[in-house]
Amino acid sequence: MKRTHTCGELRKTDAGKTVTLAGWVQNRRDHGSLMFIDLRDRYGLTQIVFDTEKPDVLKLGQEVRAEWVLQVTGTVLARPDDMVNPKMSTGEIEVAVESFTVFSKSAALPFEIDEHAKVGEEARLTYRYLDMRRPTIQHNLAARHRFVQAIRNTLDKLVFMEIETPILAKSTPEGARDYLVPSRIHWGHYYALPQSPQLFKQLCMIGGCDRYYQIARCFRDEDLRADRQPEFTQLDMEMSFADEDDVFAVAEACMQAAFKAGCGADIALPFPRMTYDQAMEKYGCDKPDIRFGLELFDLCDLVSDVDFKVFRSVLSAGGIVKGIVIPGGDSFSRKELDVELLEIAKPYGAKGLAWIKITPEGEYTGAPVKFFTKEQIDAIRERMGAKPGDAMAFSADKRKVVNASLAAVRNYLGQTKLGLAKPDDFKFLWVTDFPAFEWDAEEKRWVSAHHPFTSVNPEDVDFMMAADPSKEDCGLEKVRSAAYDMVLNGTEVASGSVRIHDAALQNKVFQVLSIEESQIKERFGFFTEALRYGTPPHAGIAPGIDRLVALMIGTDSIREVIAFPKNARAVDLMSGAPGDVDAKQLKELGIKNEEKKA
Ligand code: AMO
Ligand code: AMP
Repeated sequence: MKRTHTCGELRKTDAGKTVTLAGWVQNRRDHGSLMFIDLRDRYGLTQIVFDTEKPDVLKLGQEVRAEWVLQVTGTVLARPDDMVNPKMSTGEIEVAVESFTVFSKSAALPFEIDEHAKVGEEARLTYRYLDMRRPTIQHNLAARHRFVQAIRNTLDKLVFMEIETPILAKSTPEGARDYLVPSRIHWGHYYALPQSPQLFKQLCMIGGCDRYYQIARCFRDEDLRADRQPEFTQLDMEMSFADEDDVFAVAEACMQAAFKAGCGADIALPFPRMTYDQAMEKYGCDKPDIRFGLELFDLCDLVSDVDFKVFRSVLSAGGIVKGIVIPGGDSFSRKELDVELLEIAKPYGAKGLAWIKITPEGEYTGAPVKFFTKEQIDAIRERMGAKPGDAMAFSADKRKVVNASLAAVRNYLGQTKLGLAKPDDFKFLWVTDFPAFEWDAEEKRWVSAHHPFTSVNPEDVDFMMAADPSKEDCGLEKVRSAAYDMVLNGTEVASGSVRIHDAALQNKVFQVLSIEESQIKERFGFFTEALRYGTPPHAGIAPGIDRLVALMIGTDSIREVIAFPKNARAVDLMSGAPGDVDAKQLKELGIKNEEKKA
């Protein structure tokens, strides 16, 4: 037996027992006649005492260094009351060492394994196995494990089957580039790593598997951000004879169980729902943070005859004017309004952010006031519900610019400046009825807003059939899809849809997307063929596990909840992937690299 207890386990009631612990040396404190070691494992820390009564053991103990791995046998002693450390779970006891074994020594460490040491991310990722010894990462990985375990239990009770789908596969379009794997046997041919198991899960439905799920690894070669990794994990699921409501109920049950198990939070069900149009109108974006209000108001009708040039010219060019209330904004400085807030709005195209303050006495102040009558400002103020002491900020521009820039200002005010959102307040939301298609200005063609297998609102099918997809102004952006997103605290955490189960409609959608017949055959032929043999109506969703767990534990970066993440340049700093390969390997694959750029 290598250990009788873990380092987080012993309590006062264990006093007098002889125990054996094993773990890493967190630190050693030598006080001459008394020496202490904190021994650490995944479960906690236990204080080990060496004393002069056993000079041989003490002498050996003095050689011990940080991160050596020891096995310690000794007697549990209750600490005197004034020596109890309430910050440690084992703070009531210590273990008086009788003998110990050094399992292994540690080389000089690249950084201190200490929760409070400031260590750069590059060093942390290069030595991830050392970084992983820190309680924070241990805590994150344990929370992730409980999160996923609760999902598995929930879906098992709901008779979902966990089914594995291929990693060496054919491309599934999810909007990113594929990672390709060359075939040695079939020269010049490539597998694509799945961007998601989308087609396989739909084929499981055609195969009669009814309720499928998988904790699925997805691979996407795209530009990385804090909430994006080149490989990440989805809870991928699909249900037959089911619609949006069925999928929502299952996904909600999973989230409730997972958050309870992961962090003890109670998530209220059902999640509120909002259409895409409502979200854009009220919040200016399709993933609103609903932990706080700060809604946007359309003011076009109220400002149409105002003598303010900025608004006038925008309205006559077909743009819009919207406003947001800044609670307490009367006390904001000119710099806060004209510089700080404008800087938030600018990246989204905003050219200005007009504002009017309402003094505690109800007076209006600010540059644009002179262009308005008092009645006009009263009407705006009434619509927006602004009170004395508040300010009102306005954006006038194209709809897209106004929405995006005010949405950014809203998030900045709510999440940062006014501190209206707490990280442990989990507010889920369904956003439904997304547009089916978006115009890709670069490629000059319509692309799927979700993916090409998403069903189109039955009311919009006739219009879609009649539209001429070669034209940008054919109105296809108005076609609604049966796609939905799950949003948590302003982050999109899941996407899904009711799928097309009719081969003719599927082909029509491919046409709208200007995918040629020969390409359809080559890329999705196996799938459109399958649709012809009796396809049940089906729907599904894929919550992103990494993003959800990151939000749950309150970290900005999904790298904190992935055991071995890649850095922002898609490099695994620890193993050095992606790396060079042998010339022989390349030759076998029939691949010749062009000269590397200097
Ligand atoms: P989608 O592409 O929207 O849908 O992805 C679903 C969810 O996966 C997560 N996600 C990511 N997480 C980390 N890094 C990334 N690079 C990354 N990309 C996506 C997000 C996102 O909401 N097959 C469809 C789902 C379906 O229709 O059932 C799909 O993959 O949380
Ligand atoms: P200007 O006429 O450019 O000096 O702007 C007058 C006021 O209107 C300033 O407070 C600007 O910040 C504001 N402003 C300018 N452009 C816009 C716009 N597109 N939307 C809202 N406010 C604007």
